[in-house]
Amino acid sequence: MPTANPAGRGLLRFLTCGSVDDGKSTLIGRLLYETRVVFDDHIDAVTRASRRHGTTGEDVDLALLVDGLEAEREQGITIDVAYRYFATARRKFIVADTPGHEQYTRNMATGASNSDLAVLLVDARKGVLPQTRRHAYIAHLLGIRQVVVAINKIDLVDFDQARFDAIEADFRRFAEGLRFQAMVVIPLSARYGDNLTERSPRTPWYAGPTLLGHLETVPVDQDLAALPFRMPVQWVNRPNLDFRGLSGTIAGGRVRPGDAVVVAASGQGTTVARIVTADGDRDRADAGEAVTLTFAEEIDASRGDVIAAPDARPEVSDQFAAHVVWMHEAPLYPGRPYLLKAGARTVTATVSEIKHRVDVNSLSHLAAKELHLNEIGFCNLSLSAPIAFDPYEANRETGGFILIDRLSNATLGAGMISFGLRRATNIHWQALDVDKLARAAMKGQKPGILWFTGLSGAGKSTVANLVEKKLLAEGRHTYVLDGDNVRHGLNRDLGFTETDRIENIRRVAETAKLFVDAGLIVLVSFISPFRSERRMARELVEADEFIEVFVDTPIDECRKRDPKGLYAKADAGQIKNFTGIDSPYEPPENPELRIDTTSATPDALASRIVEELRRRGIIG
Ligand code: ADX
Repeated sequence: MPTANPAGRGLLRFLTCGSVDDGKSTLIGRLLYETRVVFDDHIDAVTRASRRHGTTGEDVDLALLVDGLEAEREQGITIDVAYRYFATARRKFIVADTPGHEQYTRNMATGASNSDLAVLLVDARKGVLPQTRRHAYIAHLLGIRQVVVAINKIDLVDFDQARFDAIEADFRRFAEGLRFQAMVVIPLSARYGDNLTERSPRTPWYAGPTLLGHLETVPVDQDLAALPFRMPVQWVNRPNLDFRGLSGTIAGGRVRPGDAVVVAASGQGTTVARIVTADGDRDRADAGEAVTLTFAEEIDASRGDVIAAPDARPEVSDQFAAHVVWMHEAPLYPGRPYLLKAGARTVTATVSEIKHRVDVNSLSHLAAKELHLNEIGFCNLSLSAPIAFDPYEANRETGGFILIDRLSNATLGAGMISFGLRRATNIHWQALDVDKLARAAMKGQKPGILWFTGLSGAGKSTVANLVEKKLLAEGRHTYVLDGDNVRHGLNRDLGFTETDRIENIRRVAETAKLFVDAGLIVLVSFISPFRSERRMARELVEADEFIEVFVDTPIDECRKRDPKGLYAKADAGQIKNFTGIDSPYEPPENPELRIDTTSATPDALASRIVEELRRRGIIG
């Protein structure tokens, strides 16, 4: 998540990015060396190491200053971005160093989210690469408005101005589509120090600044304290009955006692009474500072709420459009529920639509049904509850979010909000007088879902059919939703890609929920191969209304039975994406019932399921 930059003009946070071998480590090493951050004994060690392992002959290989740390980084996997600190008389610097390899978009996004400027390294011999374009685009997307294009290894092209000009023109053409405020292109030799801290006599044709000179003087445009006031509530601080404050880090603007504020979602207003910190009360606090606020009147706010300026409130919506950078091997599928964490708030979210995917080489928009690792898409998201946010362009803190896997808790993607969508705001839930309880009572039963999952040919429909017959014989009110049948009508438009299967299950789960509301016992018989969507179905109804039945028939047995001849076709390559063959099946981890169709007859299994319904009080 982005963090604020409280130190203002005295500090520049920047990011270096480039492809492998562009000389990034050497560049950072030299900056550290020239600004004397590195201790002399460390330099002695590097000098000795250079002779042994270096790639620079008799010269000191400055990359080894940095790469020594890189080895630690590789072991400690968790650190994907290394931050280094150095200072000159004019300014302090924090440089985020991100690995250059293509799949490290994720790391770059992490490093960029709190940087003011990006240094893009280009090898003068290779020119602008897809990687350079990708990094420039991500930097832009993450709100960086200042770039330096460092055309490195200029010594290896004999300080050739024509070569430099051609690369500059190439990059400028690409960057036209991006809204960078300032762009400086510098011919550089990180290895020999040309144009790093001093102008090089070997590039007399270059009239611009040196790299360090530029970094020292470039205006830092991100004055977070000038933005409208925002404080996401991290926690309600209530050590005793006499004190109640709201704690959090100010994400924008500043606050003073006496300022009017509102809770963004409810609009409830009050004034700030005190600003409490570990070092005593303050008469002002700025963006980036962690404080506890107390108020003139008690206000209703809890973790995840945003306290904001009343005259510049954030948007509040449960739908918005955002760019999503996908960072996981498993693709993003529309319709699949994820956790969305924005500030201190976590809600369930689905991507309702991928509007387009961005081709980072041409910046053109491509159609996409899913997003793969390192891809960037512009998406509509739909949340389980409204959140307060700003467009990312207005505030990187309150406009950014991450998507998290609900089962493994892994971070899957990062998002930058563009604007709220208001489509659903005029749709309200219509209260009806006859409810589920009344409908069920009339039928003398408790409604519920028996969810059969398993491979094709496992026996789901056979067993479900027998269960329904037995229930009918007892006078129960039931309905069977069968995959093959529902695919003839409601889901006729869906095939067997992962995206379509997710939508298939979403629709049938919503339908099953309606039937439960109607008071019925619903038998759902779908392969439903993914845990994520079975869990979504489970969460649509009450905990005691969902019974997952795993029809656990091994694939070899299903293949032997092959009631529809589909395994034969799939094995012959005539059907693609066949479950268990070239499309995955994720077995349930904790089903309410697991049935083995190889050791009992379908009738015996059906009786067992009816007994289970009785045991659970669904039928009397
Ligand atoms: S699900 O995966 O989306 O839940 P569903 O249960 O609706 O699948 O449909 C599965 C049925 O479709 C199978 O029983 C089989 O008859 C048929 N079918 C056709 N093609 C495939 C395929 N590629 N994979 C699985 N089932 C298929």
